[in-house]
Amino acid sequence: MPKLSVRDLALKGKKVFLRVDFNVPLDENQMITDDTRIKSVLPTIEYIIENGGTPIIASHLGRPKGKVVPKLSLAPVAKHLEKLLNRKVKFVPDCVGEEVKKVVQGLKPGDILLLENTRFHPEEKSNDPEFARQLASLADLFINDAFAVAHRAHASVEGIAHYFKEPAAGFLMEQEISYLEKVLKHPARPLLAIIGGAKVSTKLGVFKNLLKVIENLAVGGGMCFTFYKAKGYQIGKSLCEDDCLEEAKSLLDDKKLYLPVDVVVSRELKPGYEVKEVGAKEIPDNYYGVDIGAQSINDIIQLINNARTIFWNGPMGIFEIDEFSKGTRAIARAIADATVKGAISVVGGGDTLASLKKFNMLNSFSHISTGGGASLEFLEGKELPGIKVLKEK
Ligand code: 3PG
Repeated sequence: MPKLSVRDLALKGKKVFLRVDFNVPLDENQMITDDTRIKSVLPTIEYIIENGGTPIIASHLGRPKGKVVPKLSLAPVAKHLEKLLNRKVKFVPDCVGEEVKKVVQGLKPGDILLLENTRFHPEEKSNDPEFARQLASLADLFINDAFAVAHRAHASVEGIAHYFKEPAAGFLMEQEISYLEKVLKHPARPLLAIIGGAKVSTKLGVFKNLLKVIENLAVGGGMCFTFYKAKGYQIGKSLCEDDCLEEAKSLLDDKKLYLPVDVVVSRELKPGYEVKEVGAKEIPDNYYGVDIGAQSINDIIQLINNARTIFWNGPMGIFEIDEFSKGTRAIARAIADATVKGAISVVGGGDTLASLKKFNMLNSFSHISTGGGASLEFLEGKELPGIKVLKEK
Protein backbone atom coordinates (compact mmCIF):
# COMPACT_ATOMS: atom_id res chain seq x y z
CA MET A 1 0.00 0.00 0.00
CA PRO A 2 1.75 3.18 -1.19
CA LYS A 3 -0.38 5.50 0.97
CA LEU A 4 0.00 6.40 4.61
CA SER A 5 -2.30 4.31 6.78
CA VAL A 6 -4.19 4.85 10.03
CA ARG A 7 -1.57 2.46 11.49
CA ASP A 8 1.15 5.03 10.79
CA LEU A 9 -0.48 7.80 12.85
CA ALA A 10 -0.03 8.63 16.55
CA LEU A 11 -3.68 8.71 17.59
CA LYS A 12 -3.44 9.12 21.34
CA GLY A 13 -5.28 12.20 22.58
CA LYS A 14 -6.10 13.29 19.01
CA LYS A 15 -9.39 14.19 17.42
CA VAL A 16 -9.63 12.31 14.14
CA PHE A 17 -11.83 13.46 11.25
CA LEU A 18 -12.90 10.13 9.75
CA ARG A 19 -14.59 10.33 6.32
CA VAL A 20 -16.67 7.22 5.70
CA ASP A 21 -19.32 6.28 3.13
CA PHE A 22 -22.55 5.73 5.06
CA ASN A 23 -24.56 6.19 1.86
CA VAL A 24 -26.77 3.22 2.77
CA PRO A 25 -30.22 2.31 1.46
CA LEU A 26 -33.10 3.34 3.73
CA ASP A 27 -36.73 2.24 3.45
CA GLU A 28 -39.75 4.56 3.77
CA ASN A 29 -39.53 4.32 7.58
CA GLN A 30 -35.85 5.31 7.44
CA MET A 31 -34.77 1.82 8.43
CA ILE A 32 -31.41 0.76 7.01
CA THR A 33 -31.98 -2.11 4.60
CA ASP A 34 -28.31 -2.96 4.03
CA ASP A 35 -25.64 -2.00 6.56
CA THR A 36 -22.62 -3.52 4.75
CA ARG A 37 -20.98 -0.11 4.32
CA ILE A 38 -21.37 0.68 8.02
CA LYS A 39 -19.99 -2.67 9.13
CA SER A 40 -17.03 -2.31 6.76
CA VAL A 41 -15.59 0.69 8.63
CA LEU A 42 -16.05 -0.63 12.17
CA PRO A 43 -12.42 -1.88 12.35
CA THR A 44 -11.13 1.65 11.65
CA ILE A 45 -13.45 3.26 14.22
CA GLU A 46 -12.54 0.66 16.83
CA TYR A 47 -8.82 1.02 16.10
CA ILE A 48 -8.97 4.80 16.58
CA ILE A 49 -10.72 4.40 19.93
CA GLU A 50 -8.47 1.58 21.15
CA ASN A 51 -5.46 3.76 20.40
CA GLY A 52 -6.73 6.73 22.37
CA GLY A 53 -8.19 8.83 19.51
CA THR A 54 -11.63 10.42 19.24
CA PRO A 55 -13.38 9.78 15.91
CA ILE A 56 -15.43 12.60 14.41
CA ILE A 57 -17.21 10.74 11.65
CA ALA A 58 -18.53 12.40 8.49
CA SER A 59 -20.44 11.04 5.51
CA HIS A 60 -22.88 11.94 2.78
CA LEU A 61 -26.22 10.19 2.30
CA GLY A 62 -28.07 10.31 -1.01
CA ARG A 63 -28.10 13.37 -3.23
CA PRO A 64 -29.86 16.19 -1.31
CA LYS A 65 -28.50 18.80 -3.78
CA GLY A 66 -27.03 21.14 -1.17
CA LYS A 67 -30.23 21.47 0.89
CA VAL A 68 -31.39 20.02 4.19
CA VAL A 69 -33.57 17.03 3.30
CA PRO A 70 -34.81 15.49 6.57
CA LYS A 71 -35.27 12.02 5.11
CA LEU A 72 -31.58 12.01 4.17
CA SER A 73 -30.46 12.74 7.73
CA LEU A 74 -27.74 10.51 9.17
CA ALA A 75 -29.58 10.38 12.53
CA PRO A 76 -30.84 6.79 11.94
CA VAL A 77 -27.30 5.77 11.01
CA ALA A 78 -26.02 7.14 14.36
CA LYS A 79 -28.51 4.88 16.16
CA HIS A 80 -27.52 1.89 14.07
CA LEU A 81 -23.82 2.54 14.58
CA GLU A 82 -24.44 2.68 18.30
CA LYS A 83 -25.93 -0.81 18.19
CA LEU A 84 -23.12 -2.22 16.08
CA LEU A 85 -20.38 -0.73 18.26
CA ASN A 86 -22.25 -1.26 21.49
CA ARG A 87 -21.20 2.24 22.59
CA LYS A 88 -22.83 5.65 22.70
CA VAL A 89 -22.57 7.62 19.45
CA LYS A 90 -23.20 11.38 19.73
CA PHE A 91 -24.91 13.04 16.80
CA VAL A 92 -24.98 16.71 15.80
CA PRO A 93 -27.53 18.09 13.32
CA ASP A 94 -24.89 19.81 11.12
CA CYS A 95 -21.29 19.25 10.08
CA VAL A 96 -19.93 22.81 10.53
CA GLY A 97 -20.86 25.85 12.63
CA GLU A 98 -20.83 27.01 16.25
CA GLU A 99 -22.97 24.21 17.72
CA VAL A 100 -20.76 21.56 16.12
CA LYS A 101 -17.58 23.28 17.36
CA LYS A 102 -18.95 23.38 20.91
CA VAL A 103 -19.78 19.67 20.91
CA VAL A 104 -16.38 18.85 19.42
CA GLN A 105 -14.59 20.89 22.09
CA GLY A 106 -16.37 18.88 24.79
CA LEU A 107 -15.39 15.47 23.34
CA LYS A 108 -13.26 13.18 25.49
CA PRO A 109 -11.16 10.15 24.48
CA GLY A 110 -13.51 7.24 23.88
CA ASP A 111 -16.34 9.50 22.65
CA ILE A 112 -17.63 9.03 19.11
CA LEU A 113 -19.33 11.80 17.17
CA LEU A 114 -21.26 11.49 13.92
CA LEU A 115 -21.81 14.70 11.95
CA GLU A 116 -24.90 15.36 9.84
CA ASN A 117 -24.92 14.73 6.05
CA THR A 118 -22.13 16.78 4.45
CA ARG A 119 -24.18 17.15 1.24
CA PHE A 120 -26.74 19.34 3.05
CA HIS A 121 -24.25 22.10 2.16
CA PRO A 122 -23.73 22.96 -1.54
CA GLU A 123 -20.07 23.68 -0.70
CA GLU A 124 -19.47 19.95 -0.22
CA LYS A 125 -20.00 19.13 -3.88
CA SER A 126 -18.30 22.29 -5.15
CA ASN A 127 -15.25 21.40 -3.03
CA ASP A 128 -15.29 24.87 -1.51
CA PRO A 129 -11.94 25.52 0.22
CA GLU A 130 -13.47 27.56 3.06
CA PHE A 131 -16.01 24.82 3.82
CA ALA A 132 -13.22 22.23 3.68
CA ARG A 133 -11.19 24.39 6.08
CA GLN A 134 -14.11 24.55 8.51
CA LEU A 135 -14.47 20.78 8.45
CA ALA A 136 -10.72 20.36 8.92
CA SER A 137 -10.68 22.76 11.88
CA LEU A 138 -12.67 20.22 13.90
CA ALA A 139 -9.82 17.70 14.15
CA ASP A 140 -6.09 17.10 14.50
CA LEU A 141 -5.85 14.22 12.01
CA PHE A 142 -7.67 13.13 8.83
CA ILE A 143 -8.44 9.59 7.79
CA ASN A 144 -10.35 8.68 4.67
CA ASP A 145 -12.08 5.29 4.80
CA ALA A 146 -14.69 6.20 2.20
CA PHE A 147 -13.47 4.31 -0.86
CA ALA A 148 -16.95 4.31 -2.41
CA VAL A 149 -16.90 8.10 -2.79
CA ALA A 150 -13.17 8.48 -3.55
CA HIS A 151 -14.02 9.28 -7.19
CA ARG A 152 -15.74 12.51 -6.09
CA ALA A 153 -13.56 15.59 -5.55
CA HIS A 154 -15.81 16.85 -2.76
CA ALA A 155 -14.82 19.00 0.22
CA SER A 156 -14.95 16.28 2.88
CA VAL A 157 -13.17 13.82 0.57
CA GLU A 158 -10.53 15.86 -1.26
CA GLY A 159 -10.46 19.52 -0.20
CA ILE A 160 -10.19 18.77 3.51
CA ALA A 161 -7.08 16.62 3.12
CA HIS A 162 -5.00 19.66 2.08
CA TYR A 163 -5.35 21.06 5.60
CA PHE A 164 -3.58 18.12 7.22
CA LYS A 165 0.10 17.18 7.16
CA GLU A 166 -0.54 13.45 7.03
CA PRO A 167 -3.90 12.60 5.43
CA ALA A 168 -4.11 8.80 5.70
CA ALA A 169 -6.19 5.82 4.56
CA GLY A 170 -8.41 3.75 6.85
CA PHE A 171 -8.41 -0.07 6.79
CA LEU A 172 -11.29 -0.37 4.31
CA MET A 173 -9.65 2.11 1.92
CA GLU A 174 -6.40 0.13 2.18
CA GLN A 175 -8.15 -3.15 1.48
CA GLU A 176 -10.09 -1.79 -1.49
CA ILE A 177 -6.96 -0.30 -3.07
CA SER A 178 -4.94 -3.42 -2.46
CA TYR A 179 -7.49 -5.79 -4.08
CA LEU A 180 -8.20 -3.54 -7.05
CA GLU A 181 -4.45 -3.20 -7.61
CA LYS A 182 -4.25 -6.99 -7.53
CA VAL A 183 -6.60 -6.92 -10.51
CA LEU A 184 -5.18 -3.99 -12.44
CA LYS A 185 -1.49 -3.83 -11.62
CA HIS A 186 -0.15 -7.18 -10.50
CA PRO A 187 -2.69 -9.96 -11.06
CA ALA A 188 -1.94 -13.66 -10.83
CA ARG A 189 -2.59 -14.76 -14.42
CA PRO A 190 -4.71 -15.59 -16.32
CA LEU A 191 -6.79 -12.54 -15.41
CA LEU A 192 -10.49 -12.71 -16.27
CA ALA A 193 -13.09 -9.93 -16.00
CA ILE A 194 -16.78 -10.65 -16.24
CA ILE A 195 -18.72 -7.50 -16.95
CA GLY A 196 -22.49 -7.48 -17.04
CA GLY A 197 -25.39 -5.21 -16.14
CA ALA A 198 -27.78 -3.23 -18.22
CA LYS A 199 -25.71 -0.34 -19.47
CA VAL A 200 -22.61 -0.55 -21.59
CA SER A 201 -22.27 3.27 -21.58
CA THR A 202 -21.07 3.36 -17.97
CA LYS A 203 -18.53 0.60 -18.57
CA LEU A 204 -16.92 1.37 -21.95
CA GLY A 205 -13.94 3.04 -20.22
CA VAL A 206 -13.42 -0.09 -18.13
CA PHE A 207 -13.62 -2.32 -21.21
CA LYS A 208 -10.96 -0.30 -23.00
CA ASN A 209 -8.57 -0.18 -20.07
CA LEU A 210 -9.02 -3.80 -19.01
CA LEU A 211 -8.57 -5.12 -22.55
CA LYS A 212 -5.02 -3.72 -22.40
CA VAL A 213 -4.05 -5.85 -19.40
CA ILE A 214 -6.33 -8.86 -19.37
CA GLU A 215 -6.37 -12.38 -20.86
CA ASN A 216 -10.18 -12.67 -21.15
CA LEU A 217 -13.17 -10.37 -20.78
CA ALA A 218 -16.59 -12.03 -20.74
CA VAL A 219 -19.67 -9.90 -21.33
CA GLY A 220 -23.14 -10.64 -19.97
CA GLY A 221 -26.37 -8.92 -18.99
CA GLY A 222 -28.38 -6.34 -20.89
CA MET A 223 -25.28 -4.77 -22.39
CA CYS A 224 -24.77 -7.81 -24.66
CA PHE A 225 -27.54 -6.64 -26.93
CA THR A 226 -25.73 -3.42 -27.82
CA PHE A 227 -22.79 -5.60 -28.89
CA TYR A 228 -25.09 -7.95 -30.83
CA LYS A 229 -26.70 -5.03 -32.66
CA ALA A 230 -23.22 -3.68 -33.42
CA LYS A 231 -22.52 -7.09 -35.00
CA GLY A 232 -25.67 -6.77 -37.10
CA TYR A 233 -27.79 -9.34 -35.20
CA GLN A 234 -31.53 -8.89 -34.63
CA ILE A 235 -32.17 -8.26 -30.93
CA GLY A 236 -35.99 -8.25 -30.75
CA LYS A 237 -37.22 -6.02 -27.94
CA SER A 238 -33.99 -6.32 -25.94
CA LEU A 239 -32.25 -3.39 -24.33
CA CYS A 240 -29.90 -1.43 -26.57
CA GLU A 241 -27.93 1.80 -26.23
CA ASP A 242 -27.81 3.07 -29.79
CA ASP A 243 -25.41 5.88 -28.82
CA CYS A 244 -22.78 3.27 -27.96
CA LEU A 245 -23.00 1.16 -31.13
CA GLU A 246 -19.90 2.62 -32.76
CA GLU A 247 -17.75 2.20 -29.67
CA ALA A 248 -19.09 -1.31 -29.10
CA LYS A 249 -18.24 -2.13 -32.72
CA SER A 250 -14.67 -0.92 -32.21
CA LEU A 251 -14.18 -3.56 -29.48
CA LEU A 252 -15.63 -6.51 -31.39
CA ASP A 253 -12.41 -7.58 -33.11
CA ASP A 254 -10.55 -8.02 -29.85
CA LYS A 255 -9.99 -11.76 -29.43
CA LYS A 256 -10.02 -11.40 -25.64
CA LEU A 257 -13.66 -10.38 -25.68
CA TYR A 258 -16.16 -13.21 -25.11
CA LEU A 259 -19.78 -12.55 -26.08
CA PRO A 260 -22.47 -15.07 -25.05
CA VAL A 261 -23.38 -17.46 -27.87
CA ASP A 262 -26.92 -18.09 -26.63
CA VAL A 263 -29.51 -16.20 -24.61
CA VAL A 264 -32.69 -16.77 -22.64
CA VAL A 265 -35.57 -14.81 -24.14
CA SER A 266 -39.02 -14.06 -22.76
CA ARG A 267 -42.19 -12.55 -24.15
CA GLU A 268 -42.54 -10.26 -21.14
CA LEU A 269 -40.24 -8.85 -18.48
CA LYS A 270 -42.33 -10.61 -15.86
CA PRO A 271 -42.48 -14.13 -14.49
CA GLY A 272 -45.03 -16.59 -15.85
CA TYR A 273 -44.63 -15.99 -19.60
CA GLU A 274 -43.05 -18.21 -22.25
CA VAL A 275 -39.28 -18.42 -21.79
CA LYS A 276 -36.88 -20.18 -24.18
CA GLU A 277 -33.21 -20.39 -25.09
CA VAL A 278 -32.06 -19.34 -28.53
CA GLY A 279 -28.78 -18.73 -30.34
CA ALA A 280 -27.47 -15.16 -30.09
CA LYS A 281 -28.30 -14.63 -33.77
CA GLU A 282 -31.85 -15.94 -33.44
CA ILE A 283 -33.61 -13.61 -31.02
CA PRO A 284 -37.25 -13.45 -32.21
CA ASP A 285 -38.86 -10.06 -32.90
CA ASN A 286 -41.30 -10.00 -30.03
CA TYR A 287 -38.98 -11.24 -27.31
CA TYR A 288 -36.71 -9.64 -24.75
CA GLY A 289 -33.27 -11.07 -23.97
CA VAL A 290 -33.26 -11.66 -20.20
CA ASP A 291 -30.32 -13.94 -19.34
CA ILE A 292 -27.36 -15.76 -20.85
CA GLY A 293 -27.99 -19.30 -22.17
CA ALA A 294 -26.66 -22.73 -21.07
CA GLN A 295 -23.79 -22.89 -23.59
CA SER A 296 -22.60 -19.41 -22.60
CA ILE A 297 -22.76 -20.35 -18.91
CA ASN A 298 -20.53 -23.34 -19.67
CA ASP A 299 -18.10 -21.25 -21.71
CA ILE A 300 -17.77 -18.61 -18.97
CA ILE A 301 -17.37 -21.31 -16.29
CA GLN A 302 -14.45 -22.69 -18.31
CA LEU A 303 -12.84 -19.26 -18.36
CA ILE A 304 -13.41 -18.98 -14.61
CA ASN A 305 -11.88 -22.40 -13.92
CA ASN A 306 -8.85 -21.42 -15.92
CA ALA A 307 -8.36 -17.99 -14.29
CA ARG A 308 -6.25 -17.12 -11.25
CA THR A 309 -7.65 -13.62 -10.80
CA ILE A 310 -11.31 -12.82 -11.47
CA PHE A 311 -13.04 -9.44 -11.41
CA TRP A 312 -16.82 -9.47 -11.67
CA ASN A 313 -19.14 -6.47 -12.00
CA GLY A 314 -22.73 -6.64 -13.21
CA PRO A 315 -25.34 -9.41 -13.31
CA MET A 316 -25.72 -11.75 -16.29
CA GLY A 317 -29.47 -11.23 -16.58
CA ILE A 318 -32.56 -9.93 -14.78
CA PHE A 319 -31.69 -11.91 -11.64
CA GLU A 320 -34.50 -10.27 -9.62
CA ILE A 321 -36.91 -12.61 -11.48
CA ASP A 322 -36.15 -16.24 -10.63
CA GLU A 323 -36.75 -17.54 -14.17
CA PHE A 324 -34.09 -15.12 -15.47
CA SER A 325 -31.53 -15.59 -12.69
CA LYS A 326 -29.87 -18.87 -13.74
CA GLY A 327 -26.89 -17.25 -15.49
CA THR A 328 -26.04 -14.87 -12.65
CA ARG A 329 -26.42 -17.63 -10.08
CA ALA A 330 -24.24 -20.08 -12.02
CA ILE A 331 -21.49 -17.51 -12.56
CA ALA A 332 -21.55 -16.50 -8.87
CA ARG A 333 -21.31 -20.19 -7.87
CA ALA A 334 -18.43 -20.86 -10.25
CA ILE A 335 -16.44 -17.82 -9.03
CA ALA A 336 -17.08 -18.85 -5.42
CA ASP A 337 -15.81 -22.40 -6.18
CA ALA A 338 -12.73 -21.02 -7.94
CA THR A 339 -12.06 -18.85 -4.87
CA VAL A 340 -12.09 -21.93 -2.64
CA LYS A 341 -9.54 -23.48 -5.01
CA GLY A 342 -7.20 -20.46 -4.64
CA ALA A 343 -8.24 -17.90 -7.25
CA ILE A 344 -8.43 -14.24 -6.19
CA SER A 345 -11.95 -12.93 -6.76
CA VAL A 346 -12.98 -9.29 -6.57
CA VAL A 347 -16.65 -8.43 -6.96
CA GLY A 348 -18.26 -5.00 -7.17
CA GLY A 349 -21.33 -3.03 -8.16
CA GLY A 350 -24.65 -2.46 -6.41
CA ASP A 351 -26.68 -4.87 -8.57
CA THR A 352 -24.07 -7.61 -8.35
CA LEU A 353 -24.10 -7.34 -4.56
CA ALA A 354 -27.90 -7.38 -4.54
CA SER A 355 -27.78 -10.63 -6.54
CA LEU A 356 -25.29 -12.17 -4.10
CA LYS A 357 -27.50 -11.15 -1.21
CA LYS A 358 -30.42 -12.89 -2.90
CA PHE A 359 -28.34 -16.06 -3.43
CA ASN A 360 -26.95 -15.82 0.11
CA MET A 361 -23.39 -15.79 -1.22
CA LEU A 362 -21.95 -12.55 0.13
CA ASN A 363 -19.14 -14.33 1.96
CA SER A 364 -17.89 -16.45 -0.90
CA PHE A 365 -15.30 -14.15 -2.52
CA SER A 366 -11.82 -12.77 -1.74
CA HIS A 367 -13.09 -9.20 -1.72
CA ILE A 368 -16.42 -7.48 -2.19
CA SER A 369 -15.92 -3.85 -3.10
CA THR A 370 -18.15 -1.33 -1.33
CA GLY A 371 -17.70 1.03 -4.27
CA GLY A 372 -19.65 0.74 -7.52
CA GLY A 373 -18.68 3.89 -9.45
CA ALA A 374 -15.38 4.21 -7.58
CA SER A 375 -14.21 0.68 -8.41
CA LEU A 376 -15.12 1.13 -12.08
CA GLU A 377 -13.22 4.44 -12.31
CA PHE A 378 -10.26 2.79 -10.59
CA LEU A 379 -10.28 0.01 -13.20
CA GLU A 380 -10.62 2.58 -15.98
CA GLY A 381 -7.13 3.58 -14.85
CA LYS A 382 -8.24 6.96 -13.47
CA GLU A 383 -6.56 8.37 -10.41
CA LEU A 384 -9.34 8.89 -7.85
CA PRO A 385 -9.11 12.34 -6.21
CA GLY A 386 -9.87 11.00 -2.73
CA ILE A 387 -6.94 8.58 -3.00
CA LYS A 388 -4.55 10.87 -4.85
CA VAL A 389 -4.68 13.44 -2.04
CA LEU A 390 -3.64 10.96 0.68
CA LYS A 391 -0.02 11.15 1.74
CA GLU A 392 2.45 8.74 0.12
CA LYS A 393 4.27 6.51 2.55
C1 3PG B 1 -22.04 5.47 -4.09
O1 3PG B 1 -23.07 5.01 -3.55
O2 3PG B 1 -21.62 5.03 -5.19
C2 3PG B 1 -21.26 6.51 -3.38
O3 3PG B 1 -21.73 6.74 -2.09
C3 3PG B 1 -21.20 7.80 -4.17
O4 3PG B 1 -22.47 8.35 -4.28
P1 3PG B 1 -22.79 9.38 -5.45
O5 3PG B 1 -22.81 8.61 -6.74
O6 3PG B 1 -24.11 10.00 -5.09
O7 3PG B 1 -21.67 10.41 -5.46
